[in-house]
Amino acid sequence: MTLATALPVLHETAAPERVGELPAARVADVRALVAREMGEIEELVRARIAGGVSPGVESAAHLFDAGGKRVRPLGLLLATACFGAIDARARDLGAAAELVHMATLLHDDVIDDGDQRRGRPTSRRVWGNAVSVLAGDMLLVEALRLASAGAGADDTGTWTELVATLGRLVDGEIIQLRGRLAVSLDEVTYFEIVRGKTASLFEWALRAGARTGGASAAAVDALGRFGASLGVAFQLVDDLLDYDGDAARTGKTLFADLAEGKVTLPLIRAASGAGAVAGASVSGLVARVREGDEAAARELGLVVRESGACDRVRELARGETDRALAELAIVPRCPASEALADVARGLAARVS
Ligand code: IPE
Ligand code: IPE
Ligand code: MG
Ligand code: MG
Repeated sequence: MTLATALPVLHETAAPERVGELPAARVADVRALVAREMGEIEELVRARIAGGVSPGVESAAHLFDAGGKRVRPLGLLLATACFGAIDARARDLGAAAELVHMATLLHDDVIDDGDQRRGRPTSRRVWGNAVSVLAGDMLLVEALRLASAGAGADDTGTWTELVATLGRLVDGEIIQLRGRLAVSLDEVTYFEIVRGKTASLFEWALRAGARTGGASAAAVDALGRFGASLGVAFQLVDDLLDYDGDAARTGKTLFADLAEGKVTLPLIRAASGAGAVAGASVSGLVARVREGDEAAARELGLVVRESGACDRVRELARGETDRALAELAIVPRCPASEALADVARGLAARVS
């Protein structure tokens, strides 16, 4: 089934009144439309991992075989399909996006002392930090090779932008690191971190996809802004799920951000917006968490969860998603643009 012929089926189930009701199923519908192309990307990534050396191969395969949502290549392919045919270049770039993402996950779990990822013990728990760092590097190199093939000689923008994106991503992680356990981390800094560490790759993926499909410069920019807003909303939801999610669905440990000293928006909002009493108790608990008090960390997690801050962060994610959707106005209404809108709405409502 091609994208063009399958999407009318999707539209039947995508009436506005059902938006938010079955988001996971709707995103799954969209995924099914590009299942063949996504399958080809899976094979490309698998082959690149297999071409590495042991134990980097095992470490990367452990992460890859555990699944994951693959939203960055999905967004890239749909951006291409808004303007033209999905070809080998788009598949190479999609695989590059997922490889970069996987590299950041391997490194992130070392930085964050992550224990669980995609429902499995993290690579660092199985092979140790050194192997995980090198496996991430290995994936990054493969991503750069694939992106250079996918970008082609006539498209230096996509390649240059990927290098700039990696720089933004690393800067975001560094700024986050220096904010550890500074509960005064302000919202401006929080959003700076999010735009760097997460939104930058979404922005690149959507720009690269649109450019490969033959979009105009203005449309490439609009899709880039769509991707950036989608990425911010995505991280907002990731951060609220750390407090208010179900570990069986997210595949990650609950309250992990707090445990590693990472201050995210639900905590910032709980500390500042829930009234003096809650604010004071948040600060007191943070002080104890800083001293390594695990009971205080659990208590603080529950205070944040019950403060209503997660609902407010979810609302912000929906607002950011609306900003993303507005950028799609430049794309002639088509099955692929409808699918992109469904993905954006589905991700804002996600629980995993
Ligand atoms: C996790 O990304 C890291 C963030 C940017 C929040 P994903 O939630 O896309 O991870 P997988 O690929 O589905 O495991
Ligand atoms: C996203 O932040 C990190 C990357 C961009 C790699 P998180 O640290 O919140 O991601 P998770 O929650 O560990 O997946
Ligand atoms: Mg992490
Ligand atoms: Mg997280």
